[in-house]
Amino acid sequence: MLRIEWGQTARGTVRMSGAKNAALPVLASALFARRSTLHNIPHIGDVMMLLRIFESYGVTVRFEGNTVELDTSDMRPESDDPGLVKKIRASILLIPALLHRFGRVDLPYPGGCNLGKRPIDEHVNGLRMLGYGFSESDGLLSFSGDWFRHDVELSTFFSVTATENLLAASAFRPGTTKIRLAAIEPHVMDVVGFLRACGARIETSYDHSFEVSGISELPEHVEYTVIHDYLESGFFILLGALCAEEFIDIEHARIGDLGSFLIKASEAGVCYELRSNDTIRVHNSRSNLRAISLQTNVFPGFPTDIQSPFTVMLTQAEGISRVHEILFEGRFNMLMELEAMKGHSAILNPHEALIFGPTKLRGTTVTSWDLRSGASMILAGLIAEGETRITNVEYIERGYEDILGKLRSLGIQIDRIES
Ligand code: UD1
Repeated sequence: MLRIEWGQTARGTVRMSGAKNAALPVLASALFARRSTLHNIPHIGDVMMLLRIFESYGVTVRFEGNTVELDTSDMRPESDDPGLVKKIRASILLIPALLHRFGRVDLPYPGGCNLGKRPIDEHVNGLRMLGYGFSESDGLLSFSGDWFRHDVELSTFFSVTATENLLAASAFRPGTTKIRLAAIEPHVMDVVGFLRACGARIETSYDHSFEVSGISELPEHVEYTVIHDYLESGFFILLGALCAEEFIDIEHARIGDLGSFLIKASEAGVCYELRSNDTIRVHNSRSNLRAISLQTNVFPGFPTDIQSPFTVMLTQAEGISRVHEILFEGRFNMLMELEAMKGHSAILNPHEALIFGPTKLRGTTVTSWDLRSGASMILAGLIAEGETRITNVEYIERGYEDILGKLRSLGIQIDRIES
């Protein structure tokens, strides 16, 4: 578990890592190539698990620094450790490359964070539209067959991984695929960048659609650098607003991807300045915070992945804030932990809550329900009176590279202790 003492302040500069949500689908899409070299891959639990899954399919993996090299020459159609696949939801991203190479995939229903319902119907519908057959029995998903050669039009209803999967499945199929109602999160656009580096032609439109003209040649070798993590920089911006001695600087912040987040942060009284197009300076804004109304949405709306830390900040804002989480009902589990810390909230329904502020949080033992709520508990621990202990740290380590090292580099003492 993690142990945090209150009353600490942050100073200095912190640099963001490669984006988890880009690294996972880019790594999975790289299984189409014989060899690939991928840079800026974060050392996080989900990436390590995905790479172990790759190895269980016979892929040769080298991970040095932040560069991953993959060689798929000896890849097999089946994993020699199917139990691994259940551990992360991102294993669903293996489907297109396995189907393309072997004409069949049998995959246990993928696991993941505790966020509530995680259906996969958009993946299934899209793959069917591309020509593949699907069946499910006893929690085993089976896809088989070959792609259609004609042009196809399908929709992914803004699902991030379904859009990524169907982009990858379309990129190496003859014919044109129109993907409508597509997610366009920065990590989805990074998958587009990777598939273009493989030779696929993908046109994007402002109406949430892609047109993919597939290529039949699989790439021999592809090299690509994934983007930095705008979701991680959102977390550190909130940390700066709550705990900076005076200010902190965040490098590789992907400011351009944080538009709606920064608008809401400003509205709530967070004070920041842009130091360059990729560095943001965030001033301690604690005495300035005011209640706001917030609704998560698909990109370019407010990211659901920064809702939990933002909600922690709203406990310190003057007035009553309303948070509307449209995507994942499980995100409000975190409010139980805040309640244990004497934060006041009212859950109106599984998707809407009121946060009453400002409240004096008190340290206690809390848990991480998912990786974002776990990181949010670090913020809560820093502003709560006394000592805070956070259990289920593995969730946090699934998605944040060297978070303890980054916090320590800002002068914050946080210890990992045995439970
Ligand atoms: C991805 C991100 C996650 C982020 C989420 C929303 C990765 C690895 N994870 O998760 O961090 O919080 O996007 O931005 O990139 N849905 C369906 N049917 C489907 C798929 C999804 O109904 O087939 C629904 C889900 O229940 C949810 C919504 O669509 O309410 C969004 O899910 P989706 O975009 O698929 O999230 P993930 O790709 O799992």
